[in-house]
Amino acid sequence: MGRFTLPRDIYHGKNALEALKTFKGKKAMICVGGGSMKKFGFLDRAQAYLEEAGMEVKIFDGIEPDPSVETVMKGAEAMLAFEPDWIVAIGGGSPIDAAKAMWIKYEYPQCTFEDMCKIFGIPTLRKKAHFCAVSSTSGTATEVTAFSIITDYSKGIKYPIADFEITPDVAIVDPELAETMPKKLVAHTGMDAMTHAVEAYVSTANCNYSDPLAIHAVEMIMNDLVPSYNGDMSARARMHDAQCLAGMAFSNALLGIVHSMAHKTGAAFADYGAHIIHGAANAMYLPKVIAFNAKDETAKARYGVLVDYMGIVDKSASLDEKVEALINYLRKMNDDLNIPHCIKNYGADSYPTENGFVPEEVYLARRHDIAVNALGDACTGSNPRQPSVEEMEKLLDCVYYDLDVDF
Ligand SMILES: NC(=O)c1ccc[n+]([C@@H]2O[C@H](COP(=O)([O-])OP(=O)(O)OC[C@H]3O[C@@H](n4cnc5c(N)ncnc54)[C@H](O)[C@@H]3O)[C@@H](O)[C@H]2O)c1
Ligand SMILES: [Zn+2]
Repeated sequence: MGRFTLPRDIYHGKNALEALKTFKGKKAMICVGGGSMKKFGFLDRAQAYLEEAGMEVKIFDGIEPDPSVETVMKGAEAMLAFEPDWIVAIGGGSPIDAAKAMWIKYEYPQCTFEDMCKIFGIPTLRKKAHFCAVSSTSGTATEVTAFSIITDYSKGIKYPIADFEITPDVAIVDPELAETMPKKLVAHTGMDAMTHAVEAYVSTANCNYSDPLAIHAVEMIMNDLVPSYNGDMSARARMHDAQCLAGMAFSNALLGIVHSMAHKTGAAFADYGAHIIHGAANAMYLPKVIAFNAKDETAKARYGVLVDYMGIVDKSASLDEKVEALINYLRKMNDDLNIPHCIKNYGADSYPTENGFVPEEVYLARRHDIAVNALGDACTGSNPRQPSVEEMEKLLDCVYYDLDVDF
């Protein structure tokens, strides 16, 4: 039996934020990040709309990028004190993900972070509150997904919480919120979305319901991401939809080892100043993982289908030529978006540089542990080809040094 779960309502397009006026309830807690939503007026508007709907509103702010377990616990305490029947998370993936985890703890105060991390092990929610997510970045699609990514900084590891219980009840995908994104955020979140679509399409859990969403997302992102990065606001609006389509696909079809590696490298070198931003990590690793996965015949054929839809080589080309074309296309996108090709060249502000943050000896000393952690990541199981520890170490070498994958 398959299951395909999405929010009950997805409000999209210009002025979608106004949907908040129609909500029914008594108390809403708005969860928000460090200031961009306040600065650009979206927080005040969200609050006013909810008040117009007759609700008492409280704000929990200051949720940091890549939110910590501690922030989740603090937010849950605030919810337990205020007792909202709506949780409205507004911002990028970070505040929305943090709010999802707070929601679990609010509904089940005894639930520990370890309990939350048991895949598809979350007890029934919605006994206290419903959840609305309003996305301001165009990448994670957490407004429609069954996932929340929380970082345990004591271990330097990102943990995915995964359960359809945390798929929001309502998603609001209003392109106006994405207009204020700085260029770099457009690039990173956009390549995150591209990775979601490609990984979902070749995932072992792909299905007839997720495939069209993944394919259409890839086509839209290839056409709209670079123009959006260069300031075209109609392309920016389409990207906001495209990333959501990719999210609907991967929330149900799951992901693969690009994400396993991104989760386990993201904070692994934080002590060297190298916080490897999620979308940048995906952008660097995706071409390598495609080369690795293409050794699996089913995955290779699926990459071929994607390439046919993208129209980047003649349909009569061989599958090997199509895979190569896809890899080259994605690498060219990284160049157009000023994203490096490997960790060694990942420098200040995530831009390409000769001497990146992560020294070779530090990388080599940590490689084995990262490989083991990546294999254990929740995204590994649905990857079309299962790597051994040695293969994962070799893949990590490829993404550290920008080597070709020949295994
Ligand atoms: N839950 C999922 O399904 C899922 C999927 C992929 C990634 N993630 C997680 O999401 C997090 C990354 O989220 P993100 O990439 O959306 O970024 P983010 O939420 O971490 O935000 C990054 C920065 O951008 C700012 N910002 C956000 N929106 C803005 C706007 N419209 N204008 C100007 N500034 C804005 C924020 O204030 C913040 O400083 C990571 O923790 C990642 O692991 C979750
Ligand atoms: Zn992602």
